[in-house]
Amino acid sequence: MIMAEANGRTIGKPDKLFGVSSLAKQRIAEAGKENVIDATIGVLLTDEGKLAVLSSVIEGLRQLAPEDFAEYAPIAGIPSYGETVKKAVFLDEQPDAFVETCFTPGGTGALRNAVSCYTKPGEAVLTGDWHWSPYRVIAEEQGRRLETYSLFDGEGKFNYKAFGASLTDLLNRQEGALIIINTPAHNPTGYTFTADDWDRVIETICKFPDKKIRLLVDIAYLDFSGDARAYRAFFKKLTGLPENILPLVAFSASKGFTLYGMRCGALLCMAPTAEIAKEFKDACTVASRASWSNGNRAAMTVLSNIFADENLLAKVTEERQFFLDALRRRGKAFMDAAAAAGLNCCPYDSGFFVTVPCENAEAVGKELQKYDIFTIPLGEGVRVSVASITETECARIPEKLKLAIEAVNA
Ligand SMILES: Cc1ncc(COP(=O)(O)O)c(C=O)c1O
Repeated sequence: MIMAEANGRTIGKPDKLFGVSSLAKQRIAEAGKENVIDATIGVLLTDEGKLAVLSSVIEGLRQLAPEDFAEYAPIAGIPSYGETVKKAVFLDEQPDAFVETCFTPGGTGALRNAVSCYTKPGEAVLTGDWHWSPYRVIAEEQGRRLETYSLFDGEGKFNYKAFGASLTDLLNRQEGALIIINTPAHNPTGYTFTADDWDRVIETICKFPDKKIRLLVDIAYLDFSGDARAYRAFFKKLTGLPENILPLVAFSASKGFTLYGMRCGALLCMAPTAEIAKEFKDACTVASRASWSNGNRAAMTVLSNIFADENLLAKVTEERQFFLDALRRRGKAFMDAAAAAGLNCCPYDSGFFVTVPCENAEAVGKELQKYDIFTIPLGEGVRVSVASITETECARIPEKLKLAIEAVNA
């Protein structure tokens, strides 16, 4: 470093995503949009390739008064926002727990505050081997580490044995643990924890009555997974747990309300006692103060207005359903074509991405580019964003991907 201090950070590594995305753009300019599949983009696009936007949410933004965005917001969020977040996350089935909330800039901010408030410097955070890569950056930037367990077993099921072994190992070294579970519609695999998976998780974490267990559920894709109630059923399992277990939820308005750029989210706790809930609010407020201070008042106000108006909420839900249906059709088209081609995928349920595990993912990604198909190579596989391409394009990829894997790994 010249003036900056690396402090263990990996700095200056070229951004893989950006690299492949610009290659795709270049190829589109040469060969035409209709001849190139750009499955690198991590946001939901319409079939015409435009950002899918909930117009009712944007209308809400347009109607704001100057004070709604000019004025500072309280650090933990404007008062109506707390109630709004609870409704957005749990709908009308509020859990039997002491729920507190704290505004954060997106789900990223919620993850950041969870790491800050619920781990010590030097400690490790536990998550699956397939995970959203910023988890590691968020942990390491704050002087923590990430440890992983193998998320799937040989049959493509949640590997609860590996989860239990890794947690046991970690708790032999630490007096507590922060566990991140990203469900439903996990990034990058599209996996959704089943009711049985949740039972296994709970069974496992209940084996450590002397340890502090914080279980953070990252629900970034909740509203783009499937039936709103069915996909929230797992929250019930997170109540009535022993007092040494604290369920946390990372809420994001980025996808569900198409407010990616507004940076709006929250960390919630489902605390077993009022003391733990108060402590949550106090600790999060300090963590927020020291990082971004207060949050985006305009975004909080828009969300609050939506949840205060039944008709507006119905409109938002209806608009979202249209895009969700399209997304589910795309995912199905990909998985059907993958089954027909005999392409082995990670167990996809719903969401923006399908991941195909393979060796030499980087080379496979390059080989696939020969067919004008652009994807993101991850360490152990290739990530396809079904959110950013059409149903027809989804159906076209698996056969070519299979050929690319065979060509590289023959
Ligand atoms: C798994 C996962 N968690 C959290 C986030 C946070 O997103 P944001 O900070 O935009 O809300 C993302 C965004 O892509 C994600 O994929």
